[in-house]
Amino acid sequence: MHLTAQEERILNGEEGEGAQKAMEILVALGEINNADRLIKIASAQVSGVSYKTIGDAGAEFLRDWSSKKAKVKVLTTLNPAGVDLEMWKELGYPKDFADRQLEIIEAYGNFGIMPSCTCTPYLIGNVPKFGEHVSWAESSSAIFANSVLGARTNRESGISALASAIIGKTARYGMHLTENRAAALVVDVEAELKDQADYAALGYYIGKHYGGTPLFRNIKPSSDDLKALGAALAVGQISMFHVESITPEHVLAEPGVEKVSFEKEDLKESFDSLNTCEEPDIICIGCPHCSVSEINNIIKLNARKEVWVFTARQNKRFIKSRKNVKIISDTCMVVSPLEKLGISSIGTNSAKAAFYSANLSGLKVKFDSAENLMRQ
Ligand code: F3S
Repeated sequence: MHLTAQEERILNGEEGEGAQKAMEILVALGEINNADRLIKIASAQVSGVSYKTIGDAGAEFLRDWSSKKAKVKVLTTLNPAGVDLEMWKELGYPKDFADRQLEIIEAYGNFGIMPSCTCTPYLIGNVPKFGEHVSWAESSSAIFANSVLGARTNRESGISALASAIIGKTARYGMHLTENRAAALVVDVEAELKDQADYAALGYYIGKHYGGTPLFRNIKPSSDDLKALGAALAVGQISMFHVESITPEHVLAEPGVEKVSFEKEDLKESFDSLNTCEEPDIICIGCPHCSVSEINNIIKLNARKEVWVFTARQNKRFIKSRKNVKIISDTCMVVSPLEKLGISSIGTNSAKAAFYSANLSGLKVKFDSAENLMRQ
């Protein structure tokens, strides 16, 4: 991979050990992936924030790197942490867990990163323009950036996104190249999709059974539906999708690509495979984090059970909380240790949350539409 004289200087440690480490990571990634050079990025979204997912080893790694004085060079937002940074006591999170979490946030602060702690940075001002290159970790936000915003990012790890943020560049390969962004599968949606849970079930089914970038036809998703669809597709390692006449690069399709249809029975299969209980302890909405309009809709449904709604901190000021509905920021039902709070089952309308709550946290899950869950 070609490096400019300035990039060589960073690699040789002339701009400090912290930047050198970041450059070493970008060069290694670029070389493995046959990148020809580094390109400038407009922003970064860094994952690897929750103490639940990175543990002591990850926290120590960050502490060490952040002591080497490197600062981020571009707008950088942070993924959800393991607790609500203000309400953790009130919600019952263990103090030792919260203390470790706050140390991780402090380490990110040393790099100059604000604790935005949301997986929907595009709802709080980190909105790259069409065609801009970015370095976003967090699979649901990376797929949204590629598909809905038309920005270009690989599905970064927390470490590679942080390295890119420090250098202000990323290696040019994968989803940064136009030839890798075309649809490789056409999906004609025959099943009727009524709500976000249906869009999530569609994404989960396609991600589970197919690889490559799908182009969906016959659907008219809202922006929140696109968020749910992308997050579920990303569970199956997909980094981009197109929706005919809706997403900005939908005209990109390989000639002669495979065509499949998504039927009522496929929708049912998806719901059945994500459901492991009938009566959840609480309802968790907000994977990916909720927009303000989603929260207002949830509040109107007058839930019978306790509902935890996860969203970016900035959205809280637009919401009047209601009986039974807790508005929680900085974290989510997957990366926070719900299992340590005595919760053994959740209801959710997110296929991603349903999948990871069962497989990462060992919780039982009721996967259904928000409307049905609120009636429980
Ligand atoms: Fe976001 Fe947590 Fe879901 S980080 S996409 S709410 S698993």
